[in-house]
Amino acid sequence: MASTMEIAAMERKAEENRQLRIRLEQLKKERNAIILAHYYQRDEIQEVADFRGDSFLLAQKAASTDADVIVFCGVHFMAESAKILAPDKIVLMPDERAGCPMADMVNPAGLRALKAKHPNARVVTYINSSAEVKAETDICCTSSNAVKVVNSVDSDEVIWCPDKNLGHYVSQHTDKKMIIWEGYCNTHDMLTVRDVVEMKQRHPNALFVCHPECRPEVVAMADFVGSTTGIIKYCRESDHDEFIVGTEDGTGYQLRKDSPHKKFHFASKFLVCPNMKVNTLKKVVRALETMQPQIHVRPEVAEKARLALERMLQVS
Ligand code: 13P
Ligand code: SF4
Repeated sequence: MASTMEIAAMERKAEENRQLRIRLEQLKKERNAIILAHYYQRDEIQEVADFRGDSFLLAQKAASTDADVIVFCGVHFMAESAKILAPDKIVLMPDERAGCPMADMVNPAGLRALKAKHPNARVVTYINSSAEVKAETDICCTSSNAVKVVNSVDSDEVIWCPDKNLGHYVSQHTDKKMIIWEGYCNTHDMLTVRDVVEMKQRHPNALFVCHPECRPEVVAMADFVGSTTGIIKYCRESDHDEFIVGTEDGTGYQLRKDSPHKKFHFASKFLVCPNMKVNTLKKVVRALETMQPQIHVRPEVAEKARLALERMLQVS
């Protein structure tokens, strides 16, 4: 049971958030702004978002919105992709420090060197990458369309970067030869077979659903593998009512919203992306107050990266 002090602190926080939400609504109207939030964001951000989604849906929304300002609540590569797809919009991030360690595992020079070794290969790059890396790429993909994108390219060989786990998953669904970069997501890659076995023992009736950024041996245990949106849809539409979830814990917000009577057990307490949690409601309001920090991409880089992103949108 919560103590009197804890209850008082919770009430103060609730009142503070109520005031922030009122201010946010005023600012959104004044600036003609839209709030986009990834499913891994804190609940307090997902609650106020105009649109929640996975990387693909958010990129699609950024490309089609008629708002003047996009407040992108996710990590840096996502806001950068939004700016590339919507160059005339102002794209704000609540906290610019929200990066993606996986995206930092590949750089343009390294990718150029690999391309030189495999001149006949097409380059398929996961959207979790910098604009400079995208500019070296033939076509981007997200976890929701990776197999389709790889199968769409006109070469037998594909250079894949940066996620080795998603790359392994795709390689099982294509005849193309995959040359796979050795990057990974620190959060998803932490989930082990042992974690899943223990959870299955504790919840024997639950189905196991996971993201393809998990290790191959973990993915092999899953009843369903898919992007964040794929997992949410599968759980909502399934006749089953109990799930062990192998992706970031922010997904719980939408899972519980869609299926309040179902049970969701996250497969490990470490399934938390610290970068995604850097953003707060207070920072969202501050970003719209100050119109900072804004995302900028050098035009010569943006132009090439846009081609790779637009090809993905066309294929999907
Ligand atoms: P999706 O949004 O494509 O499910 O990817 C998850 C992820 O790790 C985003 O950083
Ligand atoms: Fe990057 Fe993994 Fe965090 Fe997604 S969950 S932003 S891939 S570190």
